[in-house]
Amino acid sequence: MSKIFIVANWKMNPPTAEEVKRLLPVINRIVKPPKAAVEVVLCPPFIYLSDLRFKIKDLRIGAQDCFWEQRGAYTGEISPFMLKHVGCEYVIIGHSERRHYLGETDAMINKKVKAVLAAKMRPILCVGESAEERKRSLTYRVIQKQLKAGFREIQKQALKKIIVAYEPVWAIGTGNACSFEEARGAMAFIRKIVKNMGGAKIAKGMAILYGGSVHSENARGYLTEAGFQGLLVGGASLNPQEFSKIIDIIQ
Ligand code: PGA
Repeated sequence: MSKIFIVANWKMNPPTAEEVKRLLPVINRIVKPPKAAVEVVLCPPFIYLSDLRFKIKDLRIGAQDCFWEQRGAYTGEISPFMLKHVGCEYVIIGHSERRHYLGETDAMINKKVKAVLAAKMRPILCVGESAEERKRSLTYRVIQKQLKAGFREIQKQALKKIIVAYEPVWAIGTGNACSFEEARGAMAFIRKIVKNMGGAKIAKGMAILYGGSVHSENARGYLTEAGFQGLLVGGASLNPQEFSKIIDIIQ
C-alpha cells in the first residue's frame, strides 16, 4: 500500500505563540502515533516552525511557501535551505491563495518547486481551477497549464519527489467540497498529464492529494471512493478533535 499523506495547512493561524502552545499538547494527546503508512505533516506559519519541531512527537513539519533562491539579498524571503535546516521535509508551493493575493505566477512556482527539490525536501504543488474557470468548463485546461508549467525542466528522477494537491479554488474554505466523482476525474486527468511528462511508472507512483473543505465526515470518501493518496486540510486542521478524527480514518 502506498503512503497516505495528511497535510495540515494552518495558513496565517493561530495568531500567537501562546495559542500554538495551547494547541500542541491537545494535538499530541489525541493524535495517536500514525501508522508507518501514514505521514501527518503540520505546516504552520514560518515563525512557529523551529519551536514546533521539538514539540510534536510523531508528526512531520512542512512550510507553506518559500523563496526560489537559497541565500542572498532578498528582503523578507525565506529560503528552502533555511526550512530544511529547521527540520522541514515538505513545502506547499503554488497555493491558490498565494497565486491570487500575492500574484504568484506559474514561472515563479516552477522556480520554487526546483529550489525545494534542490534542498532535498518534497514540494506539494497545488493546482486547481477557480469557480469562474469551472463555470466556463476550463477545469482540465487550467490543471494542465499549471502542472506543465510547475514541472518545467524537472528531471524524471526528481519528478518522483513531487506531491500534487488538487485544490479546486471554489472549494477552499467555503464548505462547498468537490464531489468525489468530480475530484476523481481531476485526479485521473492529473495522472494522465504526469504520464505524458514522466512516463507511466512515475505517474503511477505519484501521490495526489485532495484539498478544499475537507472535514471528518467527507475525508474517507476522498481516500476510498475518489482514490486520493492523501488530504490537504485547512480549517479543520486547526481543530484538534476534528483533525484527529481525520487521521483516525486511516488508522
Ligand atoms: P480548507 O483549506 O480545508 O479550509 O478548505 C484547504 C487549503 O487551502 O489547503
